[in-house]
Amino acid sequence: MNRTLTVLIALPMAAIGISHAQVVPPLHQSPGVNAPEDLTAWRAGDRLGGLLPYPPAPPGTPNPEKPLYMYGGRGEGSWALPELPVPFNAWLQKMTAQRSRVDAAAQARLKKRFDLTCRTRPGLTMSRGKLQPIGPTARLPGGVKTWTAYAGLGPDQIRERGDFPYTPLDHPLQSTAHMVFPGMWTRVHREHERFDVGFDIPEGFLPEYPPPLHLTTHRELGDVTRGVEITYANYFEMFDGLLTPEQMEGLRLLVTPFQTAWFNVTDHRVTQAPSQGVACFSCHVNGHTNGAMELAPDSRPNYARLRVDTPTMRGNYAQLILASKRSIRSMDHFAEVEEYFDGDPAMLQAIGGRTLQRSQTNRMGDFNAVIDFPPAPKLGVMNQLIPSKATQAELRGEVLFMGKAKCASCHPPATQFTDNSMHDLKVERFYAGRPEGPIKTFPLRGIKDSPPYLHDGRLFTLEDVVLFFDLILETGLAETERADLVAYLRAL
Ligand code: HEC
Ligand code: HEC
Repeated sequence: MNRTLTVLIALPMAAIGISHAQVVPPLHQSPGVNAPEDLTAWRAGDRLGGLLPYPPAPPGTPNPEKPLYMYGGRGEGSWALPELPVPFNAWLQKMTAQRSRVDAAAQARLKKRFDLTCRTRPGLTMSRGKLQPIGPTARLPGGVKTWTAYAGLGPDQIRERGDFPYTPLDHPLQSTAHMVFPGMWTRVHREHERFDVGFDIPEGFLPEYPPPLHLTTHRELGDVTRGVEITYANYFEMFDGLLTPEQMEGLRLLVTPFQTAWFNVTDHRVTQAPSQGVACFSCHVNGHTNGAMELAPDSRPNYARLRVDTPTMRGNYAQLILASKRSIRSMDHFAEVEEYFDGDPAMLQAIGGRTLQRSQTNRMGDFNAVIDFPPAPKLGVMNQLIPSKATQAELRGEVLFMGKAKCASCHPPATQFTDNSMHDLKVERFYAGRPEGPIKTFPLRGIKDSPPYLHDGRLFTLEDVVLFFDLILETGLAETERADLVAYLRAL
């Protein structure tokens, strides 16, 4: 290389920090700005912001003592193995033997924060008659007399005290993860009972089973199920003559079991007998939810994934983004990408996962689009309370919702109480832990039917919801104001 050319190249390279040693590029490509000499060392240098690094946790490892929000960073790799590293019988025996310990640990964690005795009031019911749970269930932290006094401490002091009750919930067996169905479901559907872990939240805090289904296209019929659970065996007789052929095909696919990770015929499973798999309606029963949980398919490793409880499919027709963190833009797209069925390409090949054509997932979207919210007889056209039908407490609650309590800025009534956006509630201001980032604003129509609340179900009752948002938004609501707001939410 002649001298002038060397200077011409060297000058700008020095200016952007590339050394002469890197001029011979790996793979005959230029290394890029600030390329580290040793990528392994660079990986090890992740900045964790005071959090603990994730411990190695092959499937079946019980949750660590500390809650998982205290950990951060990366895991060993992004992919899961489709093969069990041990013989199935050894896996079955080991997981069965440790299950009582895993379940007891999950109960102990919940009981520390919440009073799990479910209180109800006669007459206060969900749409088909199950009694609504009444809270708050969170235990009032020591050293304060009232929740109002506690909220008055503010985020810094609460974080300092380390007793914020509404920290993120873990999956009870986060290393294996995947779907866990509540007892009310597995008592009927024995094939979904896992041998390694049980459901942790008491049934009083879950939606009714089976829930009603209202169709946007047949308001005159009310609940079209009349208390029947829709299955592959009965869907045709139940809906023949009510649905279009496209919707019918979509419903058929929604009640068809598909193989998933841990629910299939291979050794990679958590059911004693080989499993035919899981249908969309195994969690979204009758187009609503039974509260079944999963980990959000939006991050790795498993220990970094947020617990998510099943949202309702009601009113999806009015929503522009779907899923708590993935911001999926249409129902058809959602059915196509639904990763628990399975997004991991290696897993998909091994377990015989779901491979639906776009035309089929569009049909699933067609049925999803006619699942309505339950009736709200007290609401007018703009979802405002009709004064002659509402109680004084509900009316006062509506004023608070629109004003002092700030709810309507993110939950505007006319658009089914969602702004179709995502917000970062910055809950980590109140505890030392990994931030969860922006989450979708879920709609509030029919909200009395879908406890527990928030993406991970950490708020068991609407009283807990209002306490939570009073803390988060620092609105300083009085006890009577919180009660009015709850009365209003129950009317939606
Ligand atoms: C474990 C039980 C389970 C099964 C089975 C299941 N889902 Fe879900 N569904 C969930 C959970 C949990 C979420 C929340 C995911 C998230 O926040 O990322 C969800 C979210 C959704 C949403 C978005 C709802 C919203 O308000 O944002 C749609 C639509 C949906 N599921 C459709 C389906 C379809 C279609 C199938 C079948 C292919 C299916 N689900 C199977 C549990 C389940
Ligand atoms: C800054 C925007 C914002 C404000 C203000 C706000 N919310 Fe929300 N709301 C959200 C988001 C985002 C979520 C989902 C959070 C999550 O799942 O972690 C949510 C979730 C909820 C849920 C749970 C929904 C479900 O299906 O589980 C309820 C109930 C709720 N909000 C009620 C309220 C009330 C009542 C107020 C006022 C006191 C309020 N929100 C104020 C953004 C907001």
